Amino acid sequence: MFGIRGITHPPPPIFVLREPLKKFFWEQEGGVYLNSAEWEFLATTIKGLEDVASGEIEELLGRRAEKIGEGKIKWSGKKEDAPIANYLARSIHRVIILLVNEKFVDLTDIYEKFASIGYSSYIAPEQSFAVVTRRKGRHNFTSIDVSREVGRAIIDSYLKEKRVRLGVNLDKPDVIVRVYVSDDRVMGGVDTTGQVSLHRRGYRVYQHPASLKTTIAYGLLRIADWKFEESLVDPMCGGGTIPIEAALYARGIPPGKFRKTEFAFERLTFMDRSIFEKVKSKKLERKLNLKIVATDASGKHINGAIENAKSAGVLDSIEFSVADARRMDLDFDKIVANVPYGIRMGSIERIGKLYGEFINNLLKHEWRRLVVIVGSDIFLREAQGKLKLIDLREIMYGDLRTFICSYERL
Ligand SMILES: C[S@@+](CC[C@H](N)C(=O)[O-])C[C@H]1O[C@@H](n2cnc3c(N)ncnc32)[C@H](O)[C@@H]1O
Repeated sequence: MFGIRGITHPPPPIFVLREPLKKFFWEQEGGVYLNSAEWEFLATTIKGLEDVASGEIEELLGRRAEKIGEGKIKWSGKKEDAPIANYLARSIHRVIILLVNEKFVDLTDIYEKFASIGYSSYIAPEQSFAVVTRRKGRHNFTSIDVSREVGRAIIDSYLKEKRVRLGVNLDKPDVIVRVYVSDDRVMGGVDTTGQVSLHRRGYRVYQHPASLKTTIAYGLLRIADWKFEESLVDPMCGGGTIPIEAALYARGIPPGKFRKTEFAFERLTFMDRSIFEKVKSKKLERKLNLKIVATDASGKHINGAIENAKSAGVLDSIEFSVADARRMDLDFDKIVANVPYGIRMGSIERIGKLYGEFINNLLKHEWRRLVVIVGSDIFLREAQGKLKLIDLREIMYGDLRTFICSYERL
């Protein structure tokens, strides 16, 4: 838990798990699919949204997922989980077949842990590979040192197993092995997603200067516990990420549909291609009467948001218009917003004034829950005593420490 001085903390985070959204695979296969779970998966997500990601994996795959690190969750399943999660999940960034998840002492220890794995089940002799490492914590080695040691471990293990020396290709590898070092723990395995993270959906044609990650937008909707029949507004929608993600989610449009680059699992020889074809051919999309409103003070951003919604195929589900959040109608079931952080707005007083006026407008209207993502505690302070804080969590947005605050009316 973290502390913000002077802010009264609400009870622990709320996250409502829905009935498995699409039990289409494991249920239709008469439980066979569900029953065998011999693979371990690691998925990366936003630090602070691990519960949202675990809940979504549970809904999609019927598997219990758990947080195993900051921005990391794990579950046991079948290899078919990879195409399903990559194509359908809205809250995760990468899916990795987890091969190592252990505490380590030093670089030699990391080498040994990776050298003890047999890679011939994952990498074909003619395939090239690359190791990509992310490191957090204080160490006397760099990420590049880790990648080199793990690369050596993979080559040595393969030589022993198959008498073949695997080729390394750092630019266009057939197989990417991802390694995460965090303090004294090392995790790693075969990437099934690829170079392009899943949050880059591929529908964005207008780039707002302060656009929100799609995975966070989806997380905000889940934290707000938005139900598809409820009215929803994003009164500072910018390029429209939140309303577009809401419409995609409600209409069951797979986020992977817009991906412009291949998934890494498509190159993995042990993956059955027909599973991916089966996932893509499932009729998941539905027509729904949605009440999603998206407004922004800037006409330029609204035009951009309209282009983005068109590109995502959900323009007919969202009502866009130019409006000032300080004066507009805010009678909606749920209000979800990514308010300006103030970094570009110049002064703290100006951003405080905007927040204050927005909050005063909120007080004049009937709404059930407000979820905002903010870049400082200024919003929290402005709202104190006026709105009831029911959930507060800290998430890292790149290097920026941000807060997701959920409110109800007092
Ligand atoms: C952080 S951006 C939102 C980005 C958006 N979530 C996205 O992904 O593109 C905040 C937006 O608030 C808008 N804004 C600032 N003051 C406003 C006001 N008084 N009323 C409505 N919108 C406002 C800005 O034009 C900006 O587009």
